[in-house]
Amino acid sequence: MADQPLPLSVWPTAQQPASAQRTGWYVPGSTAHPAKMLPAIARHAIAAYSQPGELVLDPMCGIGTTLVEATRLGRDAVGVDLEPRWADLARANLAHVRAAGATGSGRVVTGDARRLLNLLGPELTGQVALVVTSPPYGSSVHGQVDARPGQGVVKYDNAYSTDRANLGRVGQQALVAALAEILAGCHQLLRPGGLLVLTARPWRRREQLVDFPGQLTRTAEAAGLVPFERNVALLVGLNGARLVGRPSFFQLDRVRKARARGLPLRIIAHEDVLVFRRPQKPVSSRELKDAQREPEGLVRPDAGMDPPVEGKPAGEPRA
Ligand SMILES: C[S@@+](CC[C@H](N)C(=O)[O-])C[C@H]1O[C@@H](n2cnc3c(N)ncnc32)[C@H](O)[C@@H]1O
Repeated sequence: MADQPLPLSVWPTAQQPASAQRTGWYVPGSTAHPAKMLPAIARHAIAAYSQPGELVLDPMCGIGTTLVEATRLGRDAVGVDLEPRWADLARANLAHVRAAGATGSGRVVTGDARRLLNLLGPELTGQVALVVTSPPYGSSVHGQVDARPGQGVVKYDNAYSTDRANLGRVGQQALVAALAEILAGCHQLLRPGGLLVLTARPWRRREQLVDFPGQLTRTAEAAGLVPFERNVALLVGLNGARLVGRPSFFQLDRVRKARARGLPLRIIAHEDVLVFRRPQKPVSSRELKDAQREPEGLVRPDAGMDPPVEGKPAGEPRA
């Protein structure tokens, strides 16, 4: 480890703005997707948790950030997205990055990730070394803005789709149920010992902060995956001792309005990165229960406290 950077649990993944991270590697139409992952987050996860030549999967791949970064790092990649528009962009991005010199190969399937095994075929069962994905949550995310004469500020490309099957549009219970199916499929596709990375930002629904990382952890455990690590990916740059904010128009607008109403919200400056592992051998239900039981004498930090009262609900925007 002498010449290697220390493997820290905080990842400096926004040293460049999102657009600069994509320049030259992504086709221009990619900006249309309202909830892209920062390329540096996918890159960091792939470099940390897989080796060249291995297979990386993103079951909700959007414009293919995970796939592009995997092929740039010499991994092979496969992705799925429900929306033909995003799946086509992911294919265009893979072709583009291949022409730019990426050595890995990639493919994209259009379809519902709840049927992962049907979509990808039995030949991939137990073959995937790493899954990297960011689940959709909330239909209102960011997008593009234009100042148009006579119309003021106009918002566009600010939703995943109008398809009601898109998990960006369903309620919380339906989202968790769907993710349970998707993670069960990922479990089967992962090789024993393979890793699964989920990214999520703090998210509010009806004024309350949702413990989405907690829900994701419980869902992954129920699918037979074991918590492995929990990291923080920075969405701000580091300049000496200063944090350089990179908020979107929508983030700034939401926080300003909440503060004007007396709610001291903050601009989200990090993303939770949850890492799980497919055990080498199946976990018994007894072992799973033991892992989930709180140690005796442990008092939860929020025990006995009122629920938080915070700002307006909305899916938090991604970069
Ligand atoms: C947060 S975005 C992922 C963005 C991606 N990481 C990227 O950088 O472009 C979630 C994606 O899940 C897709 N999605 C929603 N429901 C789905 C489903 N049932 N099956 C597959 N994909 C789905 C959405 O269309 C959206 O592109």
